[in-house]
Amino acid sequence: MSIKIDEEKLQFHLQGKNTSYVMQVIKDGYLVHLYWGKRINKYNGSNKIIFMDRGFSPNPNGQDRTFSLDTIPQEYQAFGNGDFRIPAYQIKLNNGSRISDLRYKSHKLYKGKPKLEGLPATYVNDYKEAETIEIIMEDKLTGLIVTLNYTLYKELDVITRSVKFTNLGEEELRLLRALSMSVDFRDDDFEMISLYGAHNNEKNIERRKIVSGIQLIDSCRGASSPQQAPFLALVRKDTTEDSGEVYAFNLVYSGNFTAQVQVDPYKNTRVSMGINPFDFSWLLKVNESFQTPEVVMVYSQNGIGEMSRTYHKLYSQNLCRGNFKNKVRPILINNWEATYFDFDEKKIESIAKEGRKLGIELFVLDDGWFGKRDDENSSLGDWIVDKRKIPNGLERLANTITSSGMEFGIWFEPEMVSIDSDLYRQHPDWCIHVPNRPYTLGRNQLVLDLSRDDVCDYIVESVSYILSKSPITYVKWDMNRHITDIGSEFLPCERQEETSHRYILGLYKVMDELVSRFPKVLFEGCSSGGGRFDAGMLYYMPQTWTSDNTDAICRTKIQYGTSLIYPAITMGAHVSTVPNHQVGRITPLETRGHVAMAGNFGYELDLTKLTKKESEVVKEQVKLYKEIREIIQFGELYRIFNPFDGNEAAWNFVSKDKSEFIATYVKVLSLPAAPIRTIKFKGLNPDHDYKDIFTGEIFGGDELMNVGITIPRVKQDFFSIQWIFRQVEEP
Ligand code: DGJ
Repeated sequence: MSIKIDEEKLQFHLQGKNTSYVMQVIKDGYLVHLYWGKRINKYNGSNKIIFMDRGFSPNPNGQDRTFSLDTIPQEYQAFGNGDFRIPAYQIKLNNGSRISDLRYKSHKLYKGKPKLEGLPATYVNDYKEAETIEIIMEDKLTGLIVTLNYTLYKELDVITRSVKFTNLGEEELRLLRALSMSVDFRDDDFEMISLYGAHNNEKNIERRKIVSGIQLIDSCRGASSPQQAPFLALVRKDTTEDSGEVYAFNLVYSGNFTAQVQVDPYKNTRVSMGINPFDFSWLLKVNESFQTPEVVMVYSQNGIGEMSRTYHKLYSQNLCRGNFKNKVRPILINNWEATYFDFDEKKIESIAKEGRKLGIELFVLDDGWFGKRDDENSSLGDWIVDKRKIPNGLERLANTITSSGMEFGIWFEPEMVSIDSDLYRQHPDWCIHVPNRPYTLGRNQLVLDLSRDDVCDYIVESVSYILSKSPITYVKWDMNRHITDIGSEFLPCERQEETSHRYILGLYKVMDELVSRFPKVLFEGCSSGGGRFDAGMLYYMPQTWTSDNTDAICRTKIQYGTSLIYPAITMGAHVSTVPNHQVGRITPLETRGHVAMAGNFGYELDLTKLTKKESEVVKEQVKLYKEIREIIQFGELYRIFNPFDGNEAAWNFVSKDKSEFIATYVKVLSLPAAPIRTIKFKGLNPDHDYKDIFTGEIFGGDELMNVGITIPRVKQDFFSIQWIFRQVEEP
């Protein structure tokens, strides 16, 4: 398993455990894509490219009418030389020309994987995990160097790609488009999976047959967004959860993106992904470079489930960082749905005290503790404790809670400013805006201009001040609106279209600084829930609040969709009150607990209002989650029933060594004449015997997977059941 190079043919074979990816330099220096799929021992060119003269497909060399860039599979396409499909990049010169011509120059092979300057990316823990090849391409006329980076994670069937542009010419140029990857398949026998949604309804799965022309998902909202995730997968039409081919692409980036699939008239399929070229350009002065974000490409020959488990392994071990990477995460109680803005010190202490009694480990003080924030209309930016609500100060409150044996966490929305705030009054130019135009507001707030260093410094210092004064071990980092009126007063005219990307670079710099200043603090990303749940954020903050929708039934879908890419340890999941605040549904406390236990578990309700019986149930849930959280947070997820298909959902988590597993089944509505259903668990050791810890029954792993367990017939809406099995010790 390694990157094999045939120096004579200039052929590059990225050979992983189960996958192969092959490309080669051909005729006059063009880099073509030859194969990506199931691993092969050696590539000898059986799938020859047939060069032929096709009508309206132009020829870079008039002597050879059979050669056209329009009809051959390429690795990274330029604009203007005859390929009329979507180009991977485009430049503009001072004379207005937008044409360039990329040819092979050289290549370099590395052990391990180099860092991406200023950007989040997957990394190696040991240089032996991966190999990287840089293929250096050149546009001779302009002196533009385009370095294509490919890293092969040998054991994981993962290839990451990114691109670096360097201007070694004599005049400045402008990048108009700079995608992170592009790959050409030689057929169109695919369906495309993407994740769409909205606030409170994130990560719905869409699967559609691809057709000729372009199918595109994107965000131009300044954030990766709940509307579309920066993810797409091509699957064969018979690919299921457990079988069939999957080619998946996920961008490690938190801002505007594009991901598209284009089918040409000859049934070739081009997939490309990267920063959204809409409203983007980047001025590249002589000797300057521009680095694109990274795309993580996963190949699975065993269905969508295996794709997810590959992403989960990679993201938990090679993307998330810091002290909490391999630590079990604390069970928390958050006061947001309990109090919203209406709380005082006493109320907070009483919820925390109750939480402590129930075994909860962390109290999180949500929005409303600073400035004069009694609703959504003021104080963002003024990160100073509100003495009306917390008269004895944050330090005292945090100390009271931590000395009772609980940890203390706090909410910030650092990227924002309210018009009614001291920060805005002092620095009205610090928000993203267009001079002389009225603001477009979102949640009645404005976005700070993170392309400016002084703004970034303010955020770092104001958040640091709070974190250094009190015993705070957790931060919830919120972001509750998208970016409008894009532009920065700070940037010259010719750099205005850089603002969105510079914002994200500023955000990454701020987060990098804060997580390295406070390594003992667990940071959780949030954007009105899962509005910016992406791999870029996970590099800095190893968990994200999955959705503001805490209804257990909605959550079965939201968590299922999110789990396509992100592991359970990264997904915040809380039990809230009923009727549920987002959809009004009344579900049993048991079901709410079972569903929240599929993620990073916590509560979000007024614990002081629980009945005695409810408190007992919560206490039991907390105790149980502590016992099983290692299986959920570090084990493997197998999805069983897909809630998008109908009336039920089911999944199981298996511990790494396969000695334990936990399974959950949720039924939405109770049906008349309902069939008796069987659930077949997945991913177990067929040779182990497993004991049901609730009933004491013992079954072989093979029986549990192939025969399955009969699901009890319970006449009740929103019913759920959980099984926990442990391996029977050999006598
Ligand atoms: C949106 C978050 O998702 C909620 O959990 C809560 O923190 C609110 N913001 C506070 O304004």
